[in-house]
Amino acid sequence: MTDPGDSAIGFELEFEPRVPDLPGGQVVVRRDVEDVLTVLAGDLLVHANNCVRAFGDFHMALSGGSTPLPLYARLMTDPLYRSFPWRRTHLWMVDERRVAEDDERSNYGQIMGYLGIEHSDIPEGNLHPMPVLADDAEDRYQRELEQALAWRERGHDRLDFVLLGMGADAHTASLFPYSPALEVGDRLVAVNEGPSVTPPPRLTLTYPMLNAARFVALLVTGAGKRETIARVRSGGDPRELPVLGIEPVQGTLKWFLDHAACPR
Ligand code: 6PG
Repeated sequence: MTDPGDSAIGFELEFEPRVPDLPGGQVVVRRDVEDVLTVLAGDLLVHANNCVRAFGDFHMALSGGSTPLPLYARLMTDPLYRSFPWRRTHLWMVDERRVAEDDERSNYGQIMGYLGIEHSDIPEGNLHPMPVLADDAEDRYQRELEQALAWRERGHDRLDFVLLGMGADAHTASLFPYSPALEVGDRLVAVNEGPSVTPPPRLTLTYPMLNAARFVALLVTGAGKRETIARVRSGGDPRELPVLGIEPVQGTLKWFLDHAACPR
């Protein structure tokens, strides 16, 4: 059957998707990536300023991958986001490959290219890369999280904002299908590797840490993710579709999709 969004005669027919019912949260759908990012960046700005007003600072964890890079660029270049409270922001990593920071596969290295101190005003002491090359990396990062969050005067013990993506296999963060880190229920950070984990080995925040966050944004764009969104929409076992394990305990989960990612 012809896909209504694909045209054999050289122009795109208008396609208005039905907003897919996705588990656990609200779903925002916009025509293209730019429009999706406008909503997400707006939510992020409001939430960051609210947290700074309420708690004095703002702790956010960001993902790597290609999808969020235009968001990071937008935050830096669009005057609309000039009031972002960078000086009160702590930047954490959702996950990381165990490679040096100057390796092009390093999420932190990539994100710093957009949000580093020379661009964003984040104080150096508020940057929290994962110490991926240390043998005890997961223990160290857990301690760093516990200390930083516990010492907050108010609002402690939780990240304020987590930005997640989703792979075509429905992994999120570095929580891959049937991988060991999915089973970790008593730690905030875990090493992950195994047959389903795209190498190199990873370090990832665990479900308990991610699900404790105040606001979790799941940004999924592009036709390459459409089939996965269709699978996720029907629910299932989080071991097979790890993104289904994202269920904030007391926080908000919001999916951000463009039309291309929506099942037809
Ligand atoms: C990473 C991630 C990962 C990512 C998905 C989607 O470091 O790769 O944190 O979970 O969000 O793989 O990646 P894309 O945005 O590149 O599709």
